[in-house]
Amino acid sequence: MPFDSGPRSRRPPSRARRSEIGRQTVVEGDCLAELRAMKAASVDVVITSPPYNIGVAYRSYHDRRPRAAYLAWLSEVGDAIRHVLKPDGSFFLNVGSTNADPWVALDVAGAFRDLFVLQNQIVWVKSVSVGDDTIGHFKPIISRRYLNNNHEAVFQFTHKGDVTIDRLAIGVPFKDKSNITRWGHARDRRCAGNVWFIPYQTVKSKAQKFDHPAGFPVELPARCIRLHGVADAVVLDPFCGAGSTLVAAETLGRRGIGIEIDPHYARAAIARLREIANGKAQADNPRSRTVHTGDRSRARP
Ligand SMILES: C[S@@+](CC[C@H](N)C(=O)[O-])C[C@H]1O[C@@H](n2cnc3c(N)ncnc32)[C@H](O)[C@@H]1O
Repeated sequence: MPFDSGPRSRRPPSRARRSEIGRQTVVEGDCLAELRAMKAASVDVVITSPPYNIGVAYRSYHDRRPRAAYLAWLSEVGDAIRHVLKPDGSFFLNVGSTNADPWVALDVAGAFRDLFVLQNQIVWVKSVSVGDDTIGHFKPIISRRYLNNNHEAVFQFTHKGDVTIDRLAIGVPFKDKSNITRWGHARDRRCAGNVWFIPYQTVKSKAQKFDHPAGFPVELPARCIRLHGVADAVVLDPFCGAGSTLVAAETLGRRGIGIEIDPHYARAAIARLREIANGKAQADNPRSRTVHTGDRSRARP
């Protein structure tokens, strides 16, 4: 089990509060201490979105620290993730930036550069306009300098850059069906590439966002889990927030561990997972819902 803190862990077992719901474990604690207490090479897929250091109003975590200290801290977290990640594991890191701080996502990726190989770089598109039509939500900004910021980065890190992925698990049908026989494909499925359109669900209240200011759609971690492709994978999110990664893991039948420092968000994750366990809730699946162009909130650059 991942939380076996036997001889190969770096620290004694932690006393953090743990809750087991279905196949998921929610740990209320500091991810650095918790990761260091975990057994080495015990996790298949890490999917996480750390605080971006852009001043998001979390309940307890202060999201604006000196840049060097922030990056040094993330590098320590990266080292601890390296310790728990299996040799053939994948670490998907989601980071966004702001117009005022366009380097932050790349700086964060840079903090992991000496620890991992960057195997794939994915663009998560939240809203896109094709012709005159727009789908997905975005925060319009009032600016004479900047464009609306409609995407974030997802970096897939691995130990050596040689991890086999299941491209077709998140693939799409061929547009030109003659390609199937022409190129000898076994079925009507091709790699969909590294631009993922995953809109947010339409919500009307904070409660529908599970009272968390910076969650990602469940479809994002779900796609990462399916892309990694290991059927009985152990999934980990060290910055688990309101538990979107664990909801994806539960829905896909994988075991998962989420670590969250704020008790309120940890409780939100637990409540969400209980609802799934009780069959009351569906994991949100943006592809199965109608989405509208977002103009509900206005952000200034
Ligand atoms: C960007 S949010 C993650 C949101 C999550 N992906 C979701 O969909 O709900 C980052 C989270 O990291 C948590 N956090 C900050 N420092 C932490 C630490 N040292 N250990 C564990 N969690 C921490 C914050 O409280 C916040 O909930």
